[in-house]
Amino acid sequence: MGSGIAQVAATASHKVVIYDNNDRSLTNAKTNLQTSLKKLVEKQKISAEQQNSILTNIAFVSELKALDECDLVIEAIVENLEVKKNVFTELETLVNSSCILASNTSSLSITSIAAACKNPARVIGIHFFNPATLMPLVEIIPGIATDERITSTCKSFIDNWGKQTVIAKDTPGFIVNRVARPFYSEALRICEEGIADMATIDWAMKEIGGFKMGPFELMDMIGHDVNYVVTETVWKQFYFDPKFKPALSQKRLLEAGFLGRKTQRGFYNYAPETVLPSPTKDKELGTMIFRRIIAMLINEAADTLYLKIASREDIDLAMTKGVNYPKGLLTWADELGIETIVTELNRLRDFYEEDRYRISPLLKQNFALQKKFYSTT
Ligand SMILES: NC(=O)c1ccc[n+]([C@@H]2O[C@H](COP(=O)([O-])OP(=O)(O)OC[C@H]3O[C@@H](n4cnc5c(N)ncnc54)[C@H](O)[C@@H]3O)[C@@H](O)[C@H]2O)c1
Repeated sequence: MGSGIAQVAATASHKVVIYDNNDRSLTNAKTNLQTSLKKLVEKQKISAEQQNSILTNIAFVSELKALDECDLVIEAIVENLEVKKNVFTELETLVNSSCILASNTSSLSITSIAAACKNPARVIGIHFFNPATLMPLVEIIPGIATDERITSTCKSFIDNWGKQTVIAKDTPGFIVNRVARPFYSEALRICEEGIADMATIDWAMKEIGGFKMGPFELMDMIGHDVNYVVTETVWKQFYFDPKFKPALSQKRLLEAGFLGRKTQRGFYNYAPETVLPSPTKDKELGTMIFRRIIAMLINEAADTLYLKIASREDIDLAMTKGVNYPKGLLTWADELGIETIVTELNRLRDFYEEDRYRISPLLKQNFALQKKFYSTT
């Protein structure tokens, strides 16, 4: 992630310093950057001159104190709270007093990282998506102690890098990694119950839902070591809320080392000459699958709005730009009709009698008032 973020900043004409405490990682970062820029020249996205100037904007260093003149530091090291806290504490002694200290963490509390610093007001989350060079979304996450001016400075800074920013409260998963959970978990549940096989679920979400990838092929692409761990982390941080409970079938894949495409086996088998399973192209079953998953996604988006984690516009933007959903979920809810969503959620709750299927109070309210998410009245 670090080299991708560096490329974005250097492309926006900033002088960038990449620090890593591992020499091999530093060499890899340099090679990755050179390869990435070379490809852009070949595709005629940038000129050879731009390639040179981007590369000359970047210095590779193996000592933290080489960051002493930076105005903004974006940390993208190992996802470990103690390690991050130590690096932030050390950084604080090196940089000048106006330097902003940001973390690209996907799952840790910004407030907690900031609390390790003497001046937590300048600590913030700036969360890029992978690959940082291509994904347009960046979540900006102020911690409890973050100065509001730091938030707006970071927002305009990153907007100027050509990214689309959204602001999220410092809560588990921020926007995208929270709201997207049911895309995976509800699909897993449908499959575990034998309602449909994974190929059919993937087909339904693409063919009927218009998603670019189905949940199982997407989980296999992300890798279960990442996707399962995010789910488990979000669940634990929400005090084991059943809404976010991980699926055993995915945990077993992780335990087996079947991590997805990168190990040639995940839910699907990608070994050469293996034929991937075909879906049952049953429109009625597909519609049922889509309705169930979309209702759960909309429910989470509604709850995220209800709990004021982000604005409705930012929630919709986050899901279209961060995970390529075909529509923002709240816009989608208005189009499908709040009644359709509430009816589906009521059906699931009545049938399963599980807290997992509880309806967001905001959906209930909107349904009672016959109100759309985007209505002005
Ligand atoms: N990979 C993703 O899809 C993704 C997406 C968004 C955010 N993130 C977040 O970005 C961060 C980095 O993720 P990644 O996937 O690039 O990890 P990675 O393991 O590929 O890279 C981490 C780098 O940090 C270096 N490092 C570890 N400890 C260090 C220390 N104490 N000081 C200096 N360098 C140190 C390692 O040598 C390594 O090069 C994590 O916080 C992760 O949650 C990752």
